[in-house]
Amino acid sequence: MKKFKSILMLLTGMFVSLPTFAQTSEMNWVTKFQEMDSNQLTLLVILAVVLGVIVLLLILMIYLMSFMVAVFKKENPAMVEEPSWWDEFKLKYITGKMKPVGGKEEKDLMLDHSYDGIVELDNHMPPWLANVFYITIAFAVVYFTYFSVLGLGKTQLEEYEEELRIAAIEAEERAALAVGSIDEYSVVFDSSTGAINSGRTIFEANCAACHANDGGGGIGPNLTDEYWIHGGSIADIFSIVKYGVVEKGMIPWQDQLSPEEMQNVSSYILTLVGTTPANPKAPEGDKYEPAIEEPLDALTEDELGLEEVEDED
Ligand code: HEC
Repeated sequence: MKKFKSILMLLTGMFVSLPTFAQTSEMNWVTKFQEMDSNQLTLLVILAVVLGVIVLLLILMIYLMSFMVAVFKKENPAMVEEPSWWDEFKLKYITGKMKPVGGKEEKDLMLDHSYDGIVELDNHMPPWLANVFYITIAFAVVYFTYFSVLGLGKTQLEEYEEELRIAAIEAEERAALAVGSIDEYSVVFDSSTGAINSGRTIFEANCAACHANDGGGGIGPNLTDEYWIHGGSIADIFSIVKYGVVEKGMIPWQDQLSPEEMQNVSSYILTLVGTTPANPKAPEGDKYEPAIEEPLDALTEDELGLEEVEDED
């Protein structure tokens, strides 16, 4: 039973330690797990269960066989077996051969100190312990050669830098995706010089023909005043630039300009508001008043329950 228990403990120990390995070295198989759909997972669970059952059956079989061998030996005590290779191996590399205690040889082993009659025997180190020690030496030699002499393995610093490099690439991809997906819901007023300059270039190349170089208007409406036909928020302007007003002569730009370019030119238009163009076209549309966003935490007195308590006389 002891053998069985130790095997079981070894197995559970292995499974428990697996995730820590995954965390330290590579998250690859963990992420692969997460990417699996439910069908694949079910299949995997079934496979794992079947495998587990097979392993359990094997262990049970070995256990039963050893049990049977023990019984068989008991029934036929006359049959002296040759020691199996395992017994020999065990004797040589694991347990070693202890000198019998109590015999004549005990005297040779005894150390020459005795405390109140308690004596100590000088047995040699068990082979398994010595072997573990030799293995650590061999491991150290291999490790040192691999990492320091040949420099093949990555040091922690190199691993860290590699991870940083991958993270930088991923961040770039994310940023590219974010820029590529700007739409009328996510568009923002980008006041950076780069964006405004790019917006001016786009405006002068594509829009000035109808809206004038300074935004004063022509075929298209004046973009410098506070009056807008379709609203003057960045989202409104972006939508008009993107989808156009075809029946009125404002073409949709979504096929010619990238989302980022449309955001830049919309931002540039907002910087024109309030400037004085050379030949301003008369205002069209309604005056646009930016909605003042109330802070979310501005609760009314009512909500705070701060109503004045009336005195009752
Ligand atoms: C062919 C002429 C023409 C070109 C080129 C043109 N527009 Fe227009 N645009 C118009 C017209 C006409 C309107 C008015 C639409 C309406 O009355 O609904 C307009 C309206 C607009 C509006 C809405 C104004 C408001 O008051 O709501 C914006 C913003 C705008 N254009 C931006 C641009 C930008 C940016 C470009 C260049 C990328 C551009 N336009 C290119 C003709 C043009």
